[in-house]
Amino acid sequence: MCGISGVVGLKDVSQLLFEGIRNLEYRGYDSCGVALMNKTRLIIKKDIGGVEEFYRKHDVLQQKSNIGIAHTRWATHGKVTQENTHPFTSRDGNFAVVHNGIISNYRPLRDQLKKEGYKFTSDTDTEVIAHLLEKFFKKSRNPEKALVKTLNLIEGTFALAFICTYLPGHIFCAKRESPLMLGIGDEIKFVGSDFNAFIDHTKNAVILDDGEYAILSRDSYVVKSILNEEEITKPITKIEWDSETSKKGGYPHYMLKEIYEQPQTISNALDLEPSGLDDVVKMFEKAESSYFLGVGTTFYVAKYAQYIFSELAQKFIAPISSDEFLSLANVNKKTLVFAMSQSGETFDTLSALKYSQSKGAKTAAVVNVMGSSIARMVDKVVLQGSGPEICVISTKAALSQMVVLTLLAMKLGLKKKVITKKAYQENLKSLKELPAIIQGVLNERSGFIHRIANKYCKNKNWLYLGRGIYYPIALESALKMKEVAYVHAEGMPAGFLKHGTLAMIDDDISSIVFVPPKAKKDLYESTIHSIEEIRARSGFVLGIHFTEQGKNQDLFSEELILPNVPPLIAPLIQLVIGQLFAYFTATSLKRNVDKPRSLAKSVTVG
Ligand code: F6R
Repeated sequence: MCGISGVVGLKDVSQLLFEGIRNLEYRGYDSCGVALMNKTRLIIKKDIGGVEEFYRKHDVLQQKSNIGIAHTRWATHGKVTQENTHPFTSRDGNFAVVHNGIISNYRPLRDQLKKEGYKFTSDTDTEVIAHLLEKFFKKSRNPEKALVKTLNLIEGTFALAFICTYLPGHIFCAKRESPLMLGIGDEIKFVGSDFNAFIDHTKNAVILDDGEYAILSRDSYVVKSILNEEEITKPITKIEWDSETSKKGGYPHYMLKEIYEQPQTISNALDLEPSGLDDVVKMFEKAESSYFLGVGTTFYVAKYAQYIFSELAQKFIAPISSDEFLSLANVNKKTLVFAMSQSGETFDTLSALKYSQSKGAKTAAVVNVMGSSIARMVDKVVLQGSGPEICVISTKAALSQMVVLTLLAMKLGLKKKVITKKAYQENLKSLKELPAIIQGVLNERSGFIHRIANKYCKNKNWLYLGRGIYYPIALESALKMKEVAYVHAEGMPAGFLKHGTLAMIDDDISSIVFVPPKAKKDLYESTIHSIEEIRARSGFVLGIHFTEQGKNQDLFSEELILPNVPPLIAPLIQLVIGQLFAYFTATSLKRNVDKPRSLAKSVTVG
C-alpha cells in the first residue's frame, strides 16, 4: 500500500527515482510525486495518475538533482487529488516528506499545529509530519533531532523518508510496522518500500526493523534506534531475486505472466528444503491447538489447508481470517498459529501474529517475500520461493502456498500414521506431475477459456460452487473474478445452494461449478445433484470437469473439460482455470488487469 523510493548519489537521480516508483506501482497507483533538490532549494512535483503519465506531463526527467524521494500512492486518508499526493512540504518549504502507513493521532496533532499557525493544504495524516519536522528543527537546528522528536510524538504506523535543505546530501528515513529497506551501492544509496525500488542497481539491502531510523548519504549510511538514538549494526541481506523475473517478459500483463509461471513456482515449492517443512510438522504435532491464518486470498489458502489437513492428517485446524482473529481465536502457550502471506507485510495478519505471540503462542508462516516483517517475526518461516509477484492480484503465490500446505499435511499424516508410506509416495508422485499438467492445461485450454470468457463477459452475476476441498477453490476463483473483472461473483459450497440461494436462479445469474473427478465418488455425485437442482430451474451452468465424465450437454450449459488427473491435484488444476477465466473476462471487459481499482498489493493498514 503506497510505495516509497529514495536515492542519493553522484549524478542525476530523477531517472532512478522514476524506475523506483514505477517498479513499486503495484503497491499503489492513484497518484504520485517526487521531491528533488536544486542546490539548496526543494523542487516538488506531484499529480494524480500513474507514474509514466506523471513523469511525462511534468517533464520530471528535465529536473537535475543528485538526491530525491518519490512516492506512489494508494489513498487511505483523503481523496485522490493533487493536494493529497505525496511529498508534503513543511510551511517554510525546507522539508519534503513521503510516508506509508497511518498516523493514528494525526487529528489532535493537526489541531495543535493549526493553533500554532501551521497551514494544512491536504486532508492527509502525513502532512503533520512535515510541519512537526519544521517545528522541532527550529528548536534544535538539527534534522536528526527533529526526526526523533517527531517519531516519538506520532502514533500508528509508518515508513517515511524526508529530505531537507539544511543537509541537502542526506535522506532521513524511519520505520514502524510498514516495510522499509535500504539499498547499499558504491557511491549511491537507496531507500525503498521493498527491493523492487532498487533491485536493478544493487542487490545489497539493509532491512530496517520497527523502531529504527536511518540516515543515508552518497558514501555512507547509519541505522539508529528511535528509542535511544544509539547506532545499530545491521547485516547486509543479499537479494536473491533476479530483476529480470520482475519484468513482464513479453506477456501483456503480469497477471498472465504469473499464471504461466506456476509450473515453475510449484516446482520451486516441491524443491523446498525438507528439514524446514519437518520443523513445521513438529510444531503442529506439539501444539495442543492450531489455527490457520490469512486474509483475502490467503484466507482461502487457509481454508484449503483446513481441508487438506483434515483429509491427509486427520487434523482439524480452524482457519481464521486475520481481520477477525482477535474476536475468534483462543490462543495460549500451547497454540500454534500458522499464517500465509505473499507479501509478508499484511497489517491484519501481522497484528494477529503479534497478538498470538503476546499470549505466548508459537507462530509459523509460509511467505513469499524474504526479509518481510512476517518472515522475520515468526518462530519458523517457510520461504516459498515463488519470485516476485508484481500483479496486484495474487495467483502464483497462492497456488504455490497450497502446494506447500499439501506437502505439510502429507508429512504430518505420515508421522501420525494416517497415511501409509506408500500413499505418501503416491501423493508425492501426483504433486510432482502437477507442473507438467498445469503447463499442458495452460497450453491447450487457454484459447477455449478465452473464448468462453469473451462470450459470457457481460454476465452480471456468477455463483461459484464447489463441495469439499473444491469449496475454497470456488471462493478463491470468485475473488479473482471480483477483484480483476469487477463482476459480481459469490463463492458458496454447492450443498448450501438448496438452503436458500436456489431462489435466485434465473436468467440473470449464472453458475460455475468445480466438479471433482469421478474417483471422488461421493463428492462427485453430490456436486452433480447440485448442478441438477440449478438445471431444473433452467439456470445456466458452466461445468469445469474431467474427461472421464465425458461430454454431458444436458448437465452443463457450457463445459470445460480437463484431462484426467490424480484426485489430489485436481482442485489445484481447477484453480488455474478460475484464474484464467477471471483474467480473460477482465481483458474482454478492458479492465486494468495488473492494477485493478481499489486494491493494493501490500495492505499494510488495518
Ligand atoms: C487477492 C489478494 C489479496 C491478498 C491479501 C493478503 O488477489 O492479493 O486478497 O491475498 O491482501 O495479502 P498477503 O498474501 O500479502 O498477506
